[in-house]
Amino acid sequence: MDLATSALWVSIAICSITIAVTKIGRGRTTLDPTITKSLPPVVNGIALLAVLRTLFIHGIRATIGNLYTKFGSVFTINLFGSKITFLIGPEVSVHFFQGIESEISQEIGYGTDITTRNEQNRFCVDALKPSKLRSHVDPMLQELEGYFEKCGQEGVIDLKHELDQVLMLISGRCLLGKEIREKMLDKFYTLFHEVEDSLTFINLFFPYIPIPANRRRDRARIKLKEILSKIDALQKLIDSKYKDGRSITEDEVTGLMIGLVFAGEHTSSISSAWTGVYLLNDAKCLTAAVEEQKQIMKKFGRQIDYHVLLEMYTLHSSIKEALRLHPTAPMLLRKVRKHFTVRSKEGYEYEIPAGQTIVSPTVRNHRIPYIYKDPEVYDPERFGPEREEDKVGGKFSYTSFSGGRHACPGEAYGYIQIKVIWSYLLRNYELKLISPFPKEEWSKFALKPQGTVMVSYKRRQLA
Ligand code: HEM
Repeated sequence: MDLATSALWVSIAICSITIAVTKIGRGRTTLDPTITKSLPPVVNGIALLAVLRTLFIHGIRATIGNLYTKFGSVFTINLFGSKITFLIGPEVSVHFFQGIESEISQEIGYGTDITTRNEQNRFCVDALKPSKLRSHVDPMLQELEGYFEKCGQEGVIDLKHELDQVLMLISGRCLLGKEIREKMLDKFYTLFHEVEDSLTFINLFFPYIPIPANRRRDRARIKLKEILSKIDALQKLIDSKYKDGRSITEDEVTGLMIGLVFAGEHTSSISSAWTGVYLLNDAKCLTAAVEEQKQIMKKFGRQIDYHVLLEMYTLHSSIKEALRLHPTAPMLLRKVRKHFTVRSKEGYEYEIPAGQTIVSPTVRNHRIPYIYKDPEVYDPERFGPEREEDKVGGKFSYTSFSGGRHACPGEAYGYIQIKVIWSYLLRNYELKLISPFPKEEWSKFALKPQGTVMVSYKRRQLA
């Protein structure tokens, strides 16, 4: 969303909210007789105006940080009458991640019921089975070598753009299939990027508002449907049937393919760009990653395969740390189907009523100082055996790949993909970041590096 559209929506929000009643209170009671405990503190009215102002000027991370300082680990935002409760930190997030579907539902943001979605996931996660993971490494490397071959011995590139391009080729090959990879990858991705462009924070809560980005998204979806319906390789998916005998529709196939590319390409493209930016910005971290490659080459030779990738602990932690600072899903959302009680970190017991949206803001949870030492600092060693900071607050301290019932099934594939890319780049190029360290592009739902990431490269053979 561009600045003008943001400004328009913030203005509309401000006008609507100024006429709302101002109310910020802890310990509010409710008229619902089944609810006996207090509700969390509510942010609305004047306080909400301040929230929107911070959001507009400083972005989502600072906004949630301010609210956490003021209201604690559990609070509710009343947005145009919709109640959204934030649960900040692992202590208050257990039910969010582990609650059964009839109590805590993941439907929100997906536009389909959970049984259908689970079945749809089953149709297309074949590529993620452990047996398939091994076989993806060679094609990934071939795509990489073919792509970077044309770059010559030295030059300057926009790393973010190049990683996005190469990941499109890899996902085309490993996730979408040969036919799309060879015949129509460019067209597919032009349309995919139009869908992707509509993914803003406002759009997450109000996906059908009539703004230009949503109209472009809807037009692109129709064209994608036309393309995908002609792909032979998708026939198996198009012929899939749900357990109740219902056939999958062309619309659903389109949604699934968009979802798969979003999950497989988009997340890895952003994470590999952040990994690169941090490594190239920090001589100590870069040296550690390069040294690891040297050691691995001494042990296994130049060959990269699935087992060699599993040995790359430093690179793994470097990616994990980039994802801690910039999770690709900055906020996870669920719908409360059955009210539940949560004990806040500050010791208050709150009732969360059915019907509310609950949010686990990874973007904030990953920077809690009693869990992560110097949380703003890029420090891959924090995950090492002596520190294991991602376990300090229990199993939901680190949720870049979510956790519990809806943990990402593509985590292993994602790490393999990014490790293949970065081990190849570190072994074959001397790289230097020449543009300033990028800010986060916070208006989009996934927090990409803003602008271009200019990097100079010189071919080398690491030995
Ligand atoms: C760096 C790479 C990746 C990151 C950071 C990531 C992150 C996530 C997150 C946070 C969720 C959970 C959303 C929620 O709890 O509401 C998720 C779900 C999912 N991801 Fe990933 N993902 C990555 C790669 C992939 C890949 C490569 C695939 C498949 C090709 C994939 C497929 C899925 C699917 C199907 C779900 C839905 C699971 C469910 O609903 O139960 N992801 N991912």
